[in-house]
Amino acid sequence: MSASFQFTTASAEETIACGREMIRLLAAPKFLVLRGDLGAGKTTLVKGIAEGLNAADAEEVTSPTFTLIHEYEGLLDEKPVKLYHLDLYRIDSDRQLATLGIDDLAGPESLVLVEWGEKFASILDRSDGEILIEATGEDARAITLTLKA
Ligand SMILES: Nc1ncnc2c1ncn2[C@@H]1O[C@H](COP(=O)(O)OP(=O)(O)OP(=O)(O)O)[C@@H](O)[C@H]1O
Ligand SMILES: [Mg+2]
Repeated sequence: MSASFQFTTASAEETIACGREMIRLLAAPKFLVLRGDLGAGKTTLVKGIAEGLNAADAEEVTSPTFTLIHEYEGLLDEKPVKLYHLDLYRIDSDRQLATLGIDDLAGPESLVLVEWGEKFASILDRSDGEILIEATGEDARAITLTLKA
């Protein structure tokens, strides 16, 4: 069983707004895979999620392509939350993955969002669900949040 929530956006700004709204559906702790092609808008969505949590402004949220993990602190339902934004695009082996210490991030107050997490079965297995972003036109995106029951 799972629950699905669908959104459509027509610009990066709308995807940021979608992220701000989506946090209503996300009680911590959550560990979610952010799935979608290169340039789909995964990092753009995280900008909105970070804004919704009052954790960072959109401009402050950049891709963790090289840094691999970005950490922010915010509030969700008036409770402190740690937002971890990961990008595993450059991680190629389970050994490299292990050095990131992802298990240590998954505390009771954490919201972990993993771009390219679907590359690793261990990440998919442990996830609470995913956010899929699909380009349906030049600037049009279909965004689906699926939470495992
Ligand atoms: N509706 C939309 N939602 C999100 N981004 C959009 C939209 N329309 C156009 N864009 C553009 O698409 C790009 C999305 O880039 P972003 O870095 O968020 O993608 P990504 O999925 O994180 O890619 P990567 O896998 O390379 O990290 C941006 O240049 C953004 O302006
Ligand atoms: Mg990205």
